[in-house]
Amino acid sequence: MLAASCANNESQHNTTAVEKKADPEKDWHTHSNADSVVARHLNLDIRVDFDRKKINGQATWQLENKLQANSVVFDTKDLRIDSILDDQGRKVSFTQSPDDVIIGSALRVPLNPGQQSLTIYYETGDAPIALQWLEPAQTFGKKHPFLYTQSESIYARSWIPCQDGPGIRYTYEATVRTPKGLMALMSAENPQQKSADGVYHFKMDKPIPAYLMALAVGDIAFKAVDERTGVYAEPALLPKAHRELEDIGKMVYTAEALYGPYRWGRYDVLVLPSGFPIGGMENPRLTFATPTILAGDKSLVNLIAHELAHNWSGNLVTNATWNDFWLNEGFTVYFERRITEATYDKDYADMLWEIGYQDMKTAVTDLGDTSRDTWLKLDLKGRDPDIGLTDIAYEKGAAFLHLIEKTVGRAEMDKFLRAYFEHHAFQTISTEKFIIYLYDHLLKQNAEWQNKINIDAWVYAPGIPDDCPRPDDKRFRSAGAQSKAFAEGLAAGKLDTQNWSTYEWMYFLRQLPNDISAEKLADLDRHFKITRTGNSEIADLWFLRSLKAGYTAAYPAMKEFLYVTGRQKFLEPLYIEMMKTPDGAAMAKEIYAKARPNYHPLAQKTIDEIVH
Ligand code: BES
Ligand code: ZN
Repeated sequence: MLAASCANNESQHNTTAVEKKADPEKDWHTHSNADSVVARHLNLDIRVDFDRKKINGQATWQLENKLQANSVVFDTKDLRIDSILDDQGRKVSFTQSPDDVIIGSALRVPLNPGQQSLTIYYETGDAPIALQWLEPAQTFGKKHPFLYTQSESIYARSWIPCQDGPGIRYTYEATVRTPKGLMALMSAENPQQKSADGVYHFKMDKPIPAYLMALAVGDIAFKAVDERTGVYAEPALLPKAHRELEDIGKMVYTAEALYGPYRWGRYDVLVLPSGFPIGGMENPRLTFATPTILAGDKSLVNLIAHELAHNWSGNLVTNATWNDFWLNEGFTVYFERRITEATYDKDYADMLWEIGYQDMKTAVTDLGDTSRDTWLKLDLKGRDPDIGLTDIAYEKGAAFLHLIEKTVGRAEMDKFLRAYFEHHAFQTISTEKFIIYLYDHLLKQNAEWQNKINIDAWVYAPGIPDDCPRPDDKRFRSAGAQSKAFAEGLAAGKLDTQNWSTYEWMYFLRQLPNDISAEKLADLDRHFKITRTGNSEIADLWFLRSLKAGYTAAYPAMKEFLYVTGRQKFLEPLYIEMMKTPDGAAMAKEIYAKARPNYHPLAQKTIDEIVH
């Protein structure tokens, strides 16, 4: 197919060629029949009932029946369907397939010839995986309940009956009825003030896939950053959140200067209560973010650069299936680092590249360097799509783009990416289509580039290719040397940590040998008070170190951290480490019994598999 492929040895090329042909663009994670009849517009009218912890109401879908199909299929998970009306208001019979543990149940609705729409009356089930209902005590303000969703990857179907595949796009309007005194926000045009009656109207007039459906309801206030950007948070958190995120207005301009206009109108960030299960979610017009990025010194706002970048890579140009997840995340990590470089400088961005490189190495070690799951093109057929949520998609994906940049030069790379986003705007992209586009619009013109960039070795083969770019570790040299010296006996009081950012600290802690003693950690703690750090990334590494060394003085703070923080990336390594010894396992069980109600269903699912 491509000149670049010919550089590979034959046997490898043959096996990958077979795999590539096996339906590479099929989405295995939706029941829907969007190829024949596609739901193009949603009119949602729902009530948020905090007493019963239910969402109920109606979803009216406008249909485009491309192949005169006699039924339309939606995805549902744990939804109770009460009734369905056709476009004449007549009740229709429907069927629901048995629930598949991963992809849920298919809702099949018969269609009349020429039927334009239908309305589904429904209510959420007992444990919708996308939703976390917080009691007032689980919020910052402690007075009002809170609800938020996390729909990526295939969880929108647990709160809206929809055709839930990343390759299927639709526009939407919504009416959301909440108790008075709360504000509702969606991935749409949003209010900036509470309504008097608790009723809110939303509109998203750009077509988006279902995984970008989002809703948050709570005691939320807004503060503008500039004319197009702003921050939402609980009132108790808003001043801190606004201070930390005051550069997001500039960040949007920086992103636009790199890869073209921001197409979504406003860009706001909602900082959620601490139970939020991930770092950030790129919901269009309104990034959802964990409060654990509020370090006080803006050192963790690259997470916002990441979610902002998704408004190009992901939201505008979307992975066709979850097997192509690296096209969303790898591009976004690359773009995020470019924003970071433009905002700070190259040395700063290189620290993030290096941390990412370490994460990628760890992922390959954990998965195994011949593991199929270390290919960029994944094979998630019949499997939970969140298995693909590893640093292969993120860091190997980004490193591949970094390699292309280094090979063709930055000017060519940026021209290519700008055209790529423009050309595929509001469309879906598969790995196979991307490779063809890459060849046609970049590599074709230069034989040397084709030889240098071994696409198959990166995309259709395991491990880390030898030509993976190694970031310059200039700013880490001192932290690395001091980590070594400290491990070899230097006292903490003799360390020179002046001007260290979060990342030098992370590097320092990561470089310490695995068997560093509790006494050494106590020495560090005396001088730098790390146990009491307000920086979640450093705290997480520190608690992991403390567990490995049995540095018990850090345990009370760690427990506190685990009770309130729901971010899986932080929880997972700590619980895994505790489960390695009998004493640790007992502690893990005790902590988790208390902490579990504070975690989102997605995090509960993850930690249930670790702690048992
Ligand atoms: N889109 C992802 C989060 C996601 C991916 C949720 C797949 C569920 C399934 C988001 O953009 C993300 O990558 N968040 C990271 C941020 C980090 C890489 C800066 C996170 O949450 O840690
Ligand atoms: Zn992302």
